[in-house]
Amino acid sequence: MYDVTVLGSINIDTLMSVDRAPRIGETLVGNDVDYMLGGKGCNQAVAASRVGANVCMLGAVGADSFGEKALSYLSKESLDITQVKKDSVIFTGIATILKYPQDNSIIVIPGANSLVDEAYLESVEETIRCSKVLLLQHEIPLKIVEKSLKIAKKNKVMTILNPAPFSTVVSKWFDLIDVITPNEIEFMELCHSYFENPGTMEENMLRLSEKFRMKVIVTLGSKGIAYVLDGVVNYMENIKVTVQDTTGAGDTFNGILAAQLADDEDYTAALRLANVGASISTEKFGAQTGMPNVEEILSRLV
Ligand code: RIB
Ligand code: NA
Repeated sequence: MYDVTVLGSINIDTLMSVDRAPRIGETLVGNDVDYMLGGKGCNQAVAASRVGANVCMLGAVGADSFGEKALSYLSKESLDITQVKKDSVIFTGIATILKYPQDNSIIVIPGANSLVDEAYLESVEETIRCSKVLLLQHEIPLKIVEKSLKIAKKNKVMTILNPAPFSTVVSKWFDLIDVITPNEIEFMELCHSYFENPGTMEENMLRLSEKFRMKVIVTLGSKGIAYVLDGVVNYMENIKVTVQDTTGAGDTFNGILAAQLADDEDYTAALRLANVGASISTEKFGAQTGMPNVEEILSRLV
C-alpha cells in the first residue's frame, strides 16, 4: 500500500543560467550549466517522499545515459522506482531551462514520457489501486491521465491533478478529480474554456468546487495560494525567502500536499505545510535540491 503514487514525467533538466533571454538569431553567452533531475511527475514524487510519504513513482525513461542518470539520482531518494519503464527505442525526456535573474523559460521535449501507454498503465493498475492518493500532471499522454483517473475513482483512491502544462481537456474530467491545483494562468484558461460566462477568479473557484465537490486550489507564485474552504475563498501567504530558483516550486507544493492528504492531515494544516515547503524550495538552484523535509518546514512555520 502506497501513500502517494505519482504517474508522470521524468526529465533531465539542463539548467542554464543567463542574464536575459536570447533574441531570434542571436548567440548569447550564458554563465553556468547544470544537469539535474526534473519532470513535474518526478519532482512531485520526490517532494512527497522528502516529507516522509511512502511514494511510488510510475513513468518512463529512455535507454540512454540520461535515463541511467535519472534512475541513479532517484535511487538516492526513498521512493519506489521499481516500476519505472525503461524504453529502449527513445531518449529520456529533456527540459532546457533558461534561468534568468528573476524568472525562467522552459522547453520540454517529452521523449520517453510520451510512451507511457495503455500497456504500461495496465501493468501498474494494481499499484494505483493500492494507493491512498494518485497524483497526476499533464506531461504524459492525456488519454493515460484520463484512464488512470478513472481507475483511481473506481477504486476510491483520492485523485490530485496538477493541470500543467495546461490543456482544455481537463474540464471533461472534473467528475474524476478530488483536488485540482492550477496556477493562476492555468485556472483562467480553464475557466474560459469551461464557463460560458466566466466570473472573477474567486467566483469561478466557488462555482467549480460547489458543482463538482472538488477541492480547488490556485497557486499564486510568490503571493501564495487561494483555496476554497466552507464555501469561502481563503488566501494563504508565503513566508519570506531569498529566491534563487523558482523551478519546481509548484511541484514541491503538490508533492507535499499529496503526502499530507494521504496522511489524513487537516486540510488547512496540509496547505500550510505545502505552501511553506514550496517557498523553501526556491532558496536553492534546481527543481529538487531545495525540497525540504518536515523538520525544515516546521522550523520555518511561525
Ligand atoms: O515544473 C518544473 C519542471 O517542468 C522541470 O523540472 C522540467 O523538467 C519541466 O518538466
Ligand atoms: Na529550487
